[in-house]
Amino acid sequence: MSDNIEGKIVVITGASSGLGEATARFLSGEGAAVVLGARREQRIQSLARELSAHGRKALAVTTDVTQYEQVKRLVDAAVASYGRIDVMLNNAGLMPHSPLERLKIDDWNRMIDVNLKGVLYGIAAALPHMKAQRRGHIINVSSVAGHKVRPGSAVYAATKSAVLVLSEGLRQEVKPYNIRTTVISPGALATELANSITEPDVAESIRAFVRETALPADSFARAVAFAISQPEEMDVNEILFRPTRQEL
Ligand SMILES: NC(=O)c1ccc[n+]([C@@H]2O[C@H](COP(=O)([O-])OP(=O)(O)OC[C@H]3O[C@@H](n4cnc5c(N)ncnc54)[C@H](OP(=O)(O)O)[C@@H]3O)[C@@H](O)[C@H]2O)c1
Repeated sequence: MSDNIEGKIVVITGASSGLGEATARFLSGEGAAVVLGARREQRIQSLARELSAHGRKALAVTTDVTQYEQVKRLVDAAVASYGRIDVMLNNAGLMPHSPLERLKIDDWNRMIDVNLKGVLYGIAAALPHMKAQRRGHIINVSSVAGHKVRPGSAVYAATKSAVLVLSEGLRQEVKPYNIRTTVISPGALATELANSITEPDVAESIRAFVRETALPADSFARAVAFAISQPEEMDVNEILFRPTRQEL
């Protein structure tokens, strides 16, 4: 599988925990250079130090994906350090679920800013480089929630279904530039995602669901690796997966 991963320059947003961190570790183990973006500077710096200590190429750039200039700085740092960008993994996200009637407007805005605009900013930062290179791979993270809405998840699901639509539009538009696009929709995975829930009763029920159902975060990393490792002529456009025991 590692044939088309080794030596690739992979930028990952949301690399300080959960799926982003697991993917950084996995791809680094397969020989990729990883460029880590997130707000928690200490976490990404110590991950980059750890990977570097094992002889891997890794760089950490403190990044808030709600700020386009910061996402551009992250991607530009990858190109300045390693000469190009092969993969942009737009993974940063949060999931402060709550019923709409609770009017958690700040949570709604944060989800739109991070889950949707953050992905757009990642595309905006990577696309000019990939167009110039005439190759690259943009991977966006949606969710099972992008396919199925449930009570309490309406805004999160709206941002994640927007990521599906955006990814299909992107796929069609970047054909002339030889750029691959993948959107990955995971089911329940064990990460820190429930920490973003601001309603205690909702957080408790999601944590119980995750305890009973979730897969380890490296299941996602293997899905990313599958998409990246295919020959350049093969464009894996969509991956949807769940724990075998997850019903919805
Ligand atoms: N876990 C699941 O079951 C599941 C299922 C489907 C989809 N997903 C999606 O997977 C992605 C990763 O989530 P996760 O499960 O790994 O949760 P997580 O452990 O909470 O990780 C979320 C990551 O996003 C980053 N992030 C949040 N706001 C950010 C901002 N403004 N700027 C930059 N980075 C930001 C966090 O870093 P900082 O706080 O350090 O900035 C963290 O690294 C999300 O898009 C989520 O919607 C997760």
